[in-house]
Amino acid sequence: MTSATAPVVRTVNLVKIYQNGGVPVPAVRGVDLTVEEGEFVAIMGPSGSGKSTLIHMLGGLDTRTGGEIWLDGTRVDTLSESAWAVLRRKKIGFVFQFFNLVANMTVADNVELPALLAGASAREARRRREELLDALGLTGRADAAPAQLSGGEQQRVALARALANQPRLLLADEPTGNLDSRHTNDVLRLLGQVHAKGQTIVLVTHDARVACMADRVINLLDGQIVDDADITPRRSRSRGSAWDVIELHG
Ligand SMILES: Nc1ncnc2c1ncn2[C@@H]1O[C@H](COP(=O)(O)OP(=O)(O)OP(=O)(O)O)[C@@H](O)[C@H]1O
Ligand SMILES: [Mg+2]
Repeated sequence: MTSATAPVVRTVNLVKIYQNGGVPVPAVRGVDLTVEEGEFVAIMGPSGSGKSTLIHMLGGLDTRTGGEIWLDGTRVDTLSESAWAVLRRKKIGFVFQFFNLVANMTVADNVELPALLAGASAREARRRREELLDALGLTGRADAAPAQLSGGEQQRVALARALANQPRLLLADEPTGNLDSRHTNDVLRLLGQVHAKGQTIVLVTHDARVACMADRVINLLDGQIVDDADITPRRSRSRGSAWDVIELHG
């Protein structure tokens, strides 16, 4: 039951309690979060407040202890791991806090892989890859292996990979955490472009400049939302594919 009007993300009393040698560690404690199509939500909060745990659960990378997760009107917290894998491939682009590039594949192959898995032609996947690497200042690094890149370069490759598939939902955990200001600007510009075209984004950040681009900033403290502020009036956005703007870019 997918509905066109359902929020892209909805959580109901979402809870995650880790067990640390028999000691319960509550990481997320009853989060109710709704993200509408086209919204850009920044999640902030101190280290250990549950930001990564929350965003991992939204991408099915960690299981919940309690509560519900709905994506596009479909309940997903009950899905099996393999069903999650299919859903992620179809709908979600994920930038991890620690990159997770495939070590024995080139930068180009890392970025093209999600689009190829989703059924794009080799030519199309290559075109998207070239445009994204270009937008992120990585044109010359396409044939490098991830280990030959700096942390900041790897991070930008991870963002290119997450966007390559024109995902319904972009989830990003500190996508500028390792970047200098110039490359942060590249990332901000790209996020702004895809957002302007309707890309739904939920990202974790410590960087006020990144948060400033968001429509909403959510503050987590000890696993709970303590503040949820709309910082920009809702703009009316084109419902075109987030990809259109990248196409124009090239
Ligand atoms: N695999 C795990 N096992 C046990 N406890 C965990 C695990 N992962 C996270 N935690 C605990 O859950 C809490 C939330 O961690 P989380 O990684 O979500 O924080 P964060 O807000 O992303 O922090 P940071 O800003 O440092 O990335 C912390 O107390 C952390 O120690
Ligand atoms: Mg984290």
